[in-house]
Amino acid sequence: MIAPKTVQEVIDTAKIEEVVQDFVNLKRTGANMKGLCPFHNEKTPSFTVSPSKNLFKCFGCGKGGTPVTFVMEHETMTYPEAIRYLAKKYNIEIEEKEISQEDREAMQWNDSLYVVNEFAKQFFFEQLTQTDKGKSIGLSYFKERGYRDETIQKFGLGYAPEGRDTFTKYALSKGHKLDMLKSLGLTTSKDTDFFWNRVMFTIYNLSGKPVAFAGRIMQKGVKIAKYINSPETEIYNKSKTVYGLYQAKTAIRKLDECILVEGYTDVMTLSQAGIENVVASSGTALTQDQLRMIKRFTPNLKILYDGDSAGVKAALRGLDLALEQDLNVKIVLLPEGEDPDSYLQNVGAKAFQEYIDSHSRDFILFKIELLMEDAKNDPVKKADLVKDILGSIARIPDNIKRSIYVQECARLMQMEEESLLRELNKLMTGRAQKEAQRLEVAQRQAERDQPGEIGNVPGETIPDTRAVQGPATGKKHEFQERDIVRILVSAGDKWYNEEETVTVGEFVLDNIEEIINSFDNKAYQNLVQEAKSLLKKSGKVSPQYFINHQDKDIADLAIDLMHSPFEYSPGWGERNIYLKTQKMPDDNYMRDSTHALKIFKLRKIEKLYNENQERLREMKDASQLDILLKVQMKLMTMRNDLAKELNIIVLR
Ligand code: CTP
Ligand code: MN
Repeated sequence: MIAPKTVQEVIDTAKIEEVVQDFVNLKRTGANMKGLCPFHNEKTPSFTVSPSKNLFKCFGCGKGGTPVTFVMEHETMTYPEAIRYLAKKYNIEIEEKEISQEDREAMQWNDSLYVVNEFAKQFFFEQLTQTDKGKSIGLSYFKERGYRDETIQKFGLGYAPEGRDTFTKYALSKGHKLDMLKSLGLTTSKDTDFFWNRVMFTIYNLSGKPVAFAGRIMQKGVKIAKYINSPETEIYNKSKTVYGLYQAKTAIRKLDECILVEGYTDVMTLSQAGIENVVASSGTALTQDQLRMIKRFTPNLKILYDGDSAGVKAALRGLDLALEQDLNVKIVLLPEGEDPDSYLQNVGAKAFQEYIDSHSRDFILFKIELLMEDAKNDPVKKADLVKDILGSIARIPDNIKRSIYVQECARLMQMEEESLLRELNKLMTGRAQKEAQRLEVAQRQAERDQPGEIGNVPGETIPDTRAVQGPATGKKHEFQERDIVRILVSAGDKWYNEEETVTVGEFVLDNIEEIINSFDNKAYQNLVQEAKSLLKKSGKVSPQYFINHQDKDIADLAIDLMHSPFEYSPGWGERNIYLKTQKMPDDNYMRDSTHALKIFKLRKIEKLYNENQERLREMKDASQLDILLKVQMKLMTMRNDLAKELNIIVLR
């Protein structure tokens, strides 16, 4: 851990113009400096640096911030990484915070895992470039496939020699421990090398540390696995790693698109040809975690498939996951028998780029066309196809997108939109009901474990007791709305979780999506809307943006919120919870935002629930029943979900 003293010193020392100038050419214009924005494409400079305020701000894309946030954004670093980077730049000695012996040992073990992997990577690289065998077998293999030296460097390629324990012996002779080598999967349980007689690929994590390796055989026609991969280890979780993302992330963010291919060599070939926003699924189905990682950098995913891949249809089903994540998915089918690597090598970079541009198709429409081919004159197949497609559409969280797809789907399949919508609703309620059942079971379980009722708030988990006990009134909602907006404005760009994958802003906005329209206070609502579009535009909700907003009302409100200390809603302060047990809330945005948000949301949902209940009671037209019941079901699910998370038992 970096000592707070060091962090402060870095913040006090780093000059925005010096930090930015390492990456961007700046020209002086009066008190400020200007240059071309590194975060979006522009021809006339709107990227401004203010040495007096020690801030940067782009009036084109809206990004702005401090030296630390600049480094984080530009180099896609985490907060501690950015602090270390700046400390190095300014020769500030990094003081590490005092930690316990146990922590130290755990950290040393953890650090060593990376150190040993780095050592292995270096070994494979030296074998490739400095030994006769490596050069004649490994390097010539890569050269034949067209890889240049800088690509070999960039992707950490190497060569594992033929001997069965060359690496293990060498590592031991350099003082590395056998149990460590085994933990990393570099050495087998029989003390032999895991990788031998293969060319090597390094797999990096998001911050560029080697976490695993893959080895490829060089001969054709042998009956052993073409690739073998490091086993899962303490630092390598296959389903949470996206091959090539470390090398691609800056380009992905800049181009606002991620190209997904299957193989290691596909990534390398495209990247070498200047198509740098490319990552690989490594031959397996994508996981939610991988999609979430990609989504940090862009919502636009373009998938390149082998034209003849028998698994295309199966893979399509897996892609429903991407729709659930609200990614915009495009598909490009390559000519038969080609993968991205071979096709690019065949036709060259220019023709390749043109091909993917002109053959890129929307995922759902593509799926319809593909399956329609099959089902053409077979009504039974066609009925299945409709279910299949609607099943995909039902996963899209966005209402508007969903209805556009239904329209398009109706047109392509020559069916009535009405009947498709009916079918879609059935599917969606079916899912909601299953969910509700699952919850009911979970809830009964919880009741057995922890008897109670509304307002019976266990321990200190819920600061806002009044809001939980009392009926929801406009006034109380305003308090909570203010909390939400304050968190959003003052901590929107902070990390929400320890893995540093989600910001507070993303988390808050994600969670109030459905209830933005029912804010009681319009000024707060305004600010939330603003934050939402900002997140969409720039990928970030930063305080600087609001403070520098052209709309004076927004700027004033933001400054007001930033400067006012944490305002406890009634009941929140009375119990003095934070003061007893934790840091002050201002440092505690993580916990702070979760609770404020959940309670706020619960109240809003309960209000909607009661209103809908009223409507149900007063209903005269039976045709409404279906809709109102569905709404009720959905609200109940949401309410129970939240109540469970908050540890409140809802009795109804
Ligand atoms: N893969 C694997 N183990 C295997 C085969 C494949 O892990 N035995 C993964 C690798 O990540 C590989 C990807 O699946 O890159 C795609 O496999 P494939 O298309 O067979 O290989 P290519 O990527 O085309 O590799 P190459 O061009 O070197 O043949
Ligand atoms: Mn290939």
